[in-house]
Amino acid sequence: MERRDFMALSAATLASSLGAVTTADTASMPAPRAVHSEFLVPKALPFDPKNLDGLSEKMITSHHDNNYAGAVKRARVIEEKIVALANSANPFEVGSLKREQMVALNSMILHEYYFDALGASGAMDAKTTEMITASFRTIIEWENEFKKMALSLSGGSGWAFLVYNERLKRLENVWAWDHMHALWDSKIILALDMYEHSYQMDFGANAKGYVETFFKNINWNVVNTRIGAIA
Ligand SMILES: [Fe+2]
Repeated sequence: MERRDFMALSAATLASSLGAVTTADTASMPAPRAVHSEFLVPKALPFDPKNLDGLSEKMITSHHDNNYAGAVKRARVIEEKIVALANSANPFEVGSLKREQMVALNSMILHEYYFDALGASGAMDAKTTEMITASFRTIIEWENEFKKMALSLSGGSGWAFLVYNERLKRLENVWAWDHMHALWDSKIILALDMYEHSYQMDFGANAKGYVETFFKNINWNVVNTRIGAIA
């Protein structure tokens, strides 16, 4: 084999092994996909942050504008990069962006569940009370387990959730050590952000104070609506 032929064959073999697309492949490829970023826009806080009880406007606004809105912005930029790479990238390049996309999208979605159920409004309705007691025996036992589960994440990061699980057909308290940790087949009823950025400004290391204050600020009307939507 001529050296020139050997080099050409080696390059083609390397490109193939990396999953790269050849000239012949690209000739038949359609135009890049459109970027569907219309849903990747930060939502405004659904309450006046001045009116929360014990959670400062400064902390809530910072959390919303920096951590939440930052995740939405990242999700949009990542999607643009994925679309641009789709026809030409190597598997590890696509995989890296897909991983970062999942982190950003889940951060966006979970923060919306968190903020949407803040605002200190309403009370548990009959169905919420019935479902919590059916799943945990008493409201006190549910709260006790939820709060302790949340506190187990203090000093680190993660989420505490009350979910309805389709497989179990009941409510369950679920912890998550990051944005990508979940009990599948679950619908989020209540989300408590336990990343330090969500409480350090007001509470320092006093995570217990933050968890108790979160409970004083739950918008039960939103929780009731989420539970009401369960078939
Ligand atoms: Fe957060």
